Amino acid sequence: MTTSDPALERAAIACAGARKAVALTGAGISVESGIPPFRGRGGLWEKIDPMKYAHVAAFENDPAEVWKVLFLGISHVLEKARPNAGHQGLWRLEEMGVLQTVITQNVDGLHQQAGHRDVIEFHGTHAFVRCSVCGRRSDWRSVPLEVIPPRCECSGVLRPDVVLFGEMIDPRLLQRSQQLAAGCDVMLVIGTSATVEPAASLPVIAKHSGAFIIEVNPEPTPLTHRISDVTLLGSAGEVMEQMASMVQRLRSNRQPS
Ligand code: OAD
Repeated sequence: MTTSDPALERAAIACAGARKAVALTGAGISVESGIPPFRGRGGLWEKIDPMKYAHVAAFENDPAEVWKVLFLGISHVLEKARPNAGHQGLWRLEEMGVLQTVITQNVDGLHQQAGHRDVIEFHGTHAFVRCSVCGRRSDWRSVPLEVIPPRCECSGVLRPDVVLFGEMIDPRLLQRSQQLAAGCDVMLVIGTSATVEPAASLPVIAKHSGAFIIEVNPEPTPLTHRISDVTLLGSAGEVMEQMASMVQRLRSNRQPS
């Protein structure tokens, strides 16, 4: 991908003219921060079976095992992760007044760390735990981890405040995300395999409502050619850095001095 790439130019022109762009991000945007994706080579689901460790039934059946294999493993990786050029490029679009909201399937908090104000954590967050009995929510860092699984004061088992397989998306977040998808003028779809519903349908809603869809991914996905108007084949860091710079140039040329 170079700055003279016509696809990058088309995407940048669409972004430069946008007033209410929305981003949908997935695990791929955090790969350059050292967090492995779920699917594909080196993906988490290649190492562990999600139905055995990331399904709500597995957690209910053996919470200690799910804590040991999944939750503590993820937390170890997230501790060291910092936003990368992909997150920063997206943040520059928000600073320029192009991007309104980030809808992320990620639980790593890196968009907020990059500076974004309005982030919808579609699959929850690893920064908090909640009690599986009384629902009380608390900071992950306050949880005593000497005994696994950790327990709430009410003796209920604690768990990260994330969505497991077999669980519903928070209906308020789902409704707001669908409204944003239906109302945006540009949707940036970055680093997601677009295979997990209902997140995968958000670009479809946006497209059918008239939005211009820009996809950023090193590999084609089910959205490529069918839903995406432009697919930028590259890493989020490389593409978003170039895109933000190009959008900035286009917007400053446009404004009277
Ligand atoms: P996936 O692991 O399914 O897909 C990651 C995508 O990122 C793939 O399409 C890769 O090609 C792409 N990718 C890899 N490296 C990249 C890079 N450097 N820059 C940009 N893209 C890159 O992750 P998600 O689509 O986020 O849900 O997965 C969706 C959901 O499935 C997750 O939120 C999680 C998982 O099961 C739950 O746990 C509920």
